[in-house]
Amino acid sequence: FKVPTPTNEPIYSYAPGTKERALLKNALVEARSKEIDIPMYIGGKEVTTKNKKTISPPHNHKHKLGEFSYGDTTHVKQAIDAALAAKNDWENLAWEHRAAIFLKAADLIATKYRYELNAATMLCQSKNAFQAEIDSACEMIDFLRFNVSYMAEIYQQQPPISPSGVWNRLEQRPLEGFIFALTPFNFTAIAGNLPTSCAMMGNVVVWKPADTQVYSANVLMKIFKEAGVPDGVINLIYADGPEVGEVVFNHPDFAGIHFTGSTAVFQHIWKTIGNNIHKYKSYPRIVGETGGKDFILVHPSADWQAAVTGIVRGAFEYQGQKCSAASRTYIPKSLWSAMKEKMLADVASFKMGGTEDFSNFVNAVIDEKSFNKLAKYLDQAKKDKDSEIICGGNYDKTEGYFIEPTIILTSNPKYTTMCEELFGPVLTIYVYEDDAFEATLKLVDETSPYALTGAVFAQDRYAIEQASVALRNAAGNFYINDKCTGAVVGQQPFGGARGSGTNDKAGAMVNLLRWVSPRTIKETF
Ligand code: SER
Repeated sequence: FKVPTPTNEPIYSYAPGTKERALLKNALVEARSKEIDIPMYIGGKEVTTKNKKTISPPHNHKHKLGEFSYGDTTHVKQAIDAALAAKNDWENLAWEHRAAIFLKAADLIATKYRYELNAATMLCQSKNAFQAEIDSACEMIDFLRFNVSYMAEIYQQQPPISPSGVWNRLEQRPLEGFIFALTPFNFTAIAGNLPTSCAMMGNVVVWKPADTQVYSANVLMKIFKEAGVPDGVINLIYADGPEVGEVVFNHPDFAGIHFTGSTAVFQHIWKTIGNNIHKYKSYPRIVGETGGKDFILVHPSADWQAAVTGIVRGAFEYQGQKCSAASRTYIPKSLWSAMKEKMLADVASFKMGGTEDFSNFVNAVIDEKSFNKLAKYLDQAKKDKDSEIICGGNYDKTEGYFIEPTIILTSNPKYTTMCEELFGPVLTIYVYEDDAFEATLKLVDETSPYALTGAVFAQDRYAIEQASVALRNAAGNFYINDKCTGAVVGQQPFGGARGSGTNDKAGAMVNLLRWVSPRTIKETF
């Protein structure tokens, strides 16, 4: 079978006067008009509990949008049992049926649920319309369609060679057991991709999203069900992370984890799996994308205006809460004054506020914990002698968790905010002497334990080559004359190594290959 050749889903701009803008506004009003009660989904059934958690927009936290049922270890066990019960039928279903289900899910988002899903992402994850569109609509659709095409390629690979009298085959088996998908708040598409990419390859999944992403996870689950994902293949539960882990990582049928989240949690999970290794049937697959301290390095030969655009977009879109967001920048002295002037003007033009007002570029950070953490870094930067806040620095949580887009200038290339992951709208800049480019490359490479994304702006080909070689291991996604965010499925497979994860590139064939365990078959005639 041939599956359709995927192309990237076109992005709606939601510009004033467009039909799409009116439809999205309607979806926001609709979502606000009723209090929603979100269930878990176990074995295809909606499961509610008495233990409820409230859902509120981060930019308007006094407003209650609804609540969701919180589960406990009983529900985790039920979800694993339901997954294992569904396993036999699902893995024996020919792959083209699985392809059809996930292609239908992509079409349902594109044509029927786009506005509802975007509205959920805008309200509960505080993304503006454009950021929601490139995430929960386009990237989610792209993940599904491109992964289906990679899946088809995997199942239709050239078989091994067979000399006369022998037929050698390679069977791509799903993993023996269930997969645990633990997903983040910052991308609805990542939350949807982690369970579906495993399920596509014939696996059954227990999916636990971040508590702050439950609203859009619920919309996704409804879409997956409508597309035909059979009961029990993907089970969606909401519960306390350590409690879930206690059950999942002690289970003999635990076959793998597909994770995006913090480095600390991933390292803890890895150790737990290591301690329990004797309990499992197979060595579990551990696939994770974790932290980042992503950089932009400007060379004296750079088009500095393009660099400023790349820096402010990379740092402040979605409040710096993309794993790929620019958070440390190195600028040569000769360009600093012109760049500073444009940068401050650009940031001053950003409006901050709730997502329902489409003119707001900057919205709230995800929750109070994140707000408090960022506020602490800003307070410290105000006190420290080697740092100067050149714009922003204020915060206010009266209505929503708002942190002003902030730029810290430091004279110390190893200043805290040059090295630690903040996950918010805070950019730190270090200005280097023009003749110290080589030393600065070394600094970029050595300053942070992460290696997710990075960018260099330069016109000089020798400088581009020098940076590309010196920073070979400093970023899994390396951009030349572009911002370090916005990887597109099918174009720039996404992921990094070092402290940033296992680099099993989301939205790529290499990722899907982690969810199968090949069996070599030799038949002699
Ligand atoms: N894929 C996103 C980006 O590149 C991050 O997860 O911005």
